[in-house]
Amino acid sequence: VVSPMSARRMSSRRRSSVVVEAKAGARKVALLGAAGGIGQPLALLLKMQPLVAELSLYDIANTVGVAADLSHCNTTVKVTGHTGQESLGAALEGADLVVIPAGVPRKPGMTRDDLFNINASIVKTLAEGVAKHCPQAVVAIISNPVNSTVPITAEVMKKAGVYDPRKVLGVTTLDVVRANTFVAEAKGLPLQDVDVPVVGGHAGITILPLLSQTNPPVSFTDDEAAKLTDRIQNAGTEVVEAKAGAGSATLSMAYAAARFAESVLRGMEGEPNVYEAAFVESKVTELPFFASKVRLGPNGAEEVLPLGKLSPYEEKGVADLIPVLKKNIDTGIEFANK
Ligand code: NAI
Repeated sequence: VVSPMSARRMSSRRRSSVVVEAKAGARKVALLGAAGGIGQPLALLLKMQPLVAELSLYDIANTVGVAADLSHCNTTVKVTGHTGQESLGAALEGADLVVIPAGVPRKPGMTRDDLFNINASIVKTLAEGVAKHCPQAVVAIISNPVNSTVPITAEVMKKAGVYDPRKVLGVTTLDVVRANTFVAEAKGLPLQDVDVPVVGGHAGITILPLLSQTNPPVSFTDDEAAKLTDRIQNAGTEVVEAKAGAGSATLSMAYAAARFAESVLRGMEGEPNVYEAAFVESKVTELPFFASKVRLGPNGAEEVLPLGKLSPYEEKGVADLIPVLKKNIDTGIEFANK
């Protein structure tokens, strides 16, 4: 007897040709930018992930060493290393999930938009590789500015005729992780229990925590809400300044991305009720892309959840962020079609 769940799993397997023979949990994850500040700790966390069968590490330098080092950990995940553009195809072939932290990070005084000139081309090239070598994969984009690199990836996929809006996801999990931590600390709540939805985008005022929807329910004075919102929006800059030129968030980002990757893989396995925030194609607002909670399933973000009831402070936050986010999205779309 085939249960509806396993029937769904089987039909999803049949569509993604490379994993047809694979047993449950035998997923290939490709990590692009694997030798970097985020890439290395994220590779370690993925080497410890039971849902992963193969971890394919790709970078323009130093990948062989990272792969050799990681391969000595006695977990079952098979590690392969690929260096340089000519090996991108081999790195991506058969991947179910592609995670992209490739590109330059911020230095003190820089905004995420200042990274656009370099990172836009890097992400465009990598997205072209995904479109060619593993068009059925879910792509999780970490490289900043996420508000623009996600629209770039979507445009590249559209041009190649392989765009599936459920499979191009901007990783905003770190904003949620930070919001959960700061709210738990401020309110004396157990860290593991707190969930704060964060919506909008991933830069400055486009990062909008919905404190009024914090779970478990807690109340905030206007002053508390303003201070916490400001800290969550500028938490990345807090790290950039503390590192004083040595980069931006890497360890907390690797942690957040590992959680996001696990959720995507659990969704692929057919586990119900898996939710994460993600910056995705969306009808939640008038903008073509927006970050909000999504339900993850066999094909990626199967459902984009609405924003729910907002406080007047949050309503203003959405109104204020829309023109800023629109500009970031348009910049990405224009670049991809140049
Ligand atoms: P990093 O400079 O330490 O590492 C980046 C890696 O990308 C390097 O190993 C580099 O060789 C590699 N790379 C450069 N060009 C490449 C190409 N064409 N193909 C493949 N790999 C290439 O930087 P870090 O700290 O790991 O940050 C990476 C990105 O993640 C940055 O854009 C940063 O802004 C972003 N980020 C995003 C966050 C988010 O919440 N979404 C949070 C923190 C950082």
